Amino acid sequence: MRPFNTFLRGLLLAPSVAAVTLNVTDPTSIKNAAATAAFGMMQYYQGNLSGQTPGILPQPLFWWEGGGMFMTLVDYWRYTGDTTYNSVTSQALLFQVGPNRDYMPPNQTKNEGNDDQGFWGLSAMLAAETNFPNPPPDQPQWLALAQAVFNEMVSRWDTTKCGGGLKWQIFPFNKGFDYKNSIANGCFLNLAARLARYTGNQTYAEWAERIWQWEESVNLIDASYNIFDGTSDTDNCVTVDRLQWSYNAGIFLHSAANMYNLTNGNKTWQTRTQGVLDASKIFFNNSVMQEQACEPRGNCNTDQLTFKAYFSGWLAASSILAPFTGARIRPLLASSAAAVAQTCTGGSSKTACGFDWVSKSFDGNTGIGQQMSALGVLHSAIASIENTAQQIAAPVTNSTGGTSVGDPNAGTAAASGQAPLTAATRPVTSGDRAGAGILTFMVVAGALGGSLFMTLELKSS
Ligand SMILES: *[C@@H]1O[C@H](CO)[C@@H](O)[C@H](O)[C@H]1NC(C)=O
Ligand SMILES: *[C@@H]1O[C@H](CO)[C@@H](O)[C@H](O)[C@H]1NC(C)=O
Ligand SMILES: *[C@@H]1O[C@H](CO)[C@@H](O)[C@H](O)[C@H]1NC(C)=O
Ligand SMILES: *[C@@H]1O[C@H](CO)[C@@H](O)[C@H](O)[C@H]1NC(C)=O
Ligand SMILES: *[C@@H]1O[C@H](CO)[C@@H](O)[C@H](O)[C@H]1NC(C)=O
Ligand SMILES: *[C@@H]1O[C@H](CO)[C@@H](O)[C@H](O)[C@H]1NC(C)=O
Ligand SMILES: *[C@@H]1O[C@H](CO)[C@@H](O)[C@H](O)[C@H]1NC(C)=O
Ligand SMILES: *[C@@H]1O[C@H](CO)[C@@H](O)[C@H](O)[C@H]1NC(C)=O
Repeated sequence: MRPFNTFLRGLLLAPSVAAVTLNVTDPTSIKNAAATAAFGMMQYYQGNLSGQTPGILPQPLFWWEGGGMFMTLVDYWRYTGDTTYNSVTSQALLFQVGPNRDYMPPNQTKNEGNDDQGFWGLSAMLAAETNFPNPPPDQPQWLALAQAVFNEMVSRWDTTKCGGGLKWQIFPFNKGFDYKNSIANGCFLNLAARLARYTGNQTYAEWAERIWQWEESVNLIDASYNIFDGTSDTDNCVTVDRLQWSYNAGIFLHSAANMYNLTNGNKTWQTRTQGVLDASKIFFNNSVMQEQACEPRGNCNTDQLTFKAYFSGWLAASSILAPFTGARIRPLLASSAAAVAQTCTGGSSKTACGFDWVSKSFDGNTGIGQQMSALGVLHSAIASIENTAQQIAAPVTNSTGGTSVGDPNAGTAAASGQAPLTAATRPVTSGDRAGAGILTFMVVAGALGGSLFMTLELKSS
């Protein structure tokens, strides 16, 4: 035989090594695959062990990613009904609230950004919307926690430059205080839209409209509904960093879908929802989800490795709130879940998932973020089965069975960063700074030897 045929026959006869089998049209198969991925992810988590801190992930993961992971686990429970991780999730979501019950715990505040606080607030919001078991009455409640984060963001809305917007950072001593970015404003928008829907309070809806219009006004959303990373208020937000991340598209899509649903089909919000969904095609490669700004070059950082988890969750949730998007979203979730399952052959368990799903084979790239992304798309694939999706309960509201107790005035104590800083919130050096925030590009201009130069600094912090 010619060598080529020998090679081909070898491939055909090779035993199947896929250790996570997945039939994307079978809810039970999806749940089993998601359970395997969740178990794999939680092997990394030690926050509930003696001597460890609940909510904190092992280095190099940052504090905000704990918020992201527990948000993903609330969704996991919501879609699969598996309560295995509920108590560890409650424990973490309550441990990190801080003395003002606003997700500004003293260990984190010195380098906490609006997006960092936002992710924990969104976890609490999801818990309220899914009737995740309520904490005991003497503990902070999910809805009030989300309102606390929202209220503090209101107090930080900055109209001194760029006609408004939320800064990336909360405190002036942190690098990035002059950056106004889409994820910080996206967290604020998402909370506003969801609180509007949950409570029916029009004040939140007005904020959602204001934030959306501001993003458009500084071209962080363009006419084709691409969502860009951010812009600096040192030049009045004239120059836009045009990197596009899947979680930015996801959070704006989901916010618009919430407003569309709340307004019972308002045309403006429908157009925005459809627009962001159309623009999101860049995050699919052969119908498989891909973090296009870094994944093809293999240089996604710790933060970026988790984005596909949130994007998946927000796609699935959008298809429920804005059913007109379902026909587009369902096949993309199904093909992405089918692809990732084929990568889950790594590690000693032979079930650890890789990060490059497009190749449909294990790329050797494992970790919490990689596993979280795999889990996110696997359980979201429940929403890809049309008749199953129709049975998924819509997020509850205060008038449709929601039981979480709110407090419209929550969180104002530490608002706007004006509260006295404790020793733990002293100004940080750039060395300390490495622990905080979410990636961005900072454009730094400086004069050297009389010539102006620009550098692009990749901040993974
Ligand atoms: C996948 O699941 C569907 C629904 O349960 C079933 O009809 C189909 O036969 C399954 N396909 C395979 C290859 O097992
Ligand atoms: C910690 O959580 C895991 C689930 O991830 C659970 O299996 C384990 O029993 C928990 N340990 C303690 C000490 O609560
Ligand atoms: C803050 O850090 C200390 C020391 O590591 C730890 O004991 C404590 O539990 C942490 N608190 C929170 C809310 O993370
Ligand atoms: C509506 O929300 C606003 C802003 O948080 C708050 O001031 C107001 O008290 C809320 N109204 C009600 C009826 O809860
Ligand atoms: C809002 O979401 C619910 C639950 O999925 C859905 O039944 C309803 O049709 C949605 N509203 C609109 C206007 O699409
Ligand atoms: C739909 O929403 C847009 C944006 O919030 C608003 O300007 C418009 O008045 C709404 N349309 C209707 C018919 O309520
Ligand atoms: C699709 O993914 C492959 C493999 O990562 C990459 O080489 C290619 O550039 C991607 N295509 C697009 C359009 O991004
Ligand atoms: C939520 O619903 C409860 C029970 O119907 C009601 O007492 C409460 O005032 C509502 N809260 C808001 C903010 O509408």
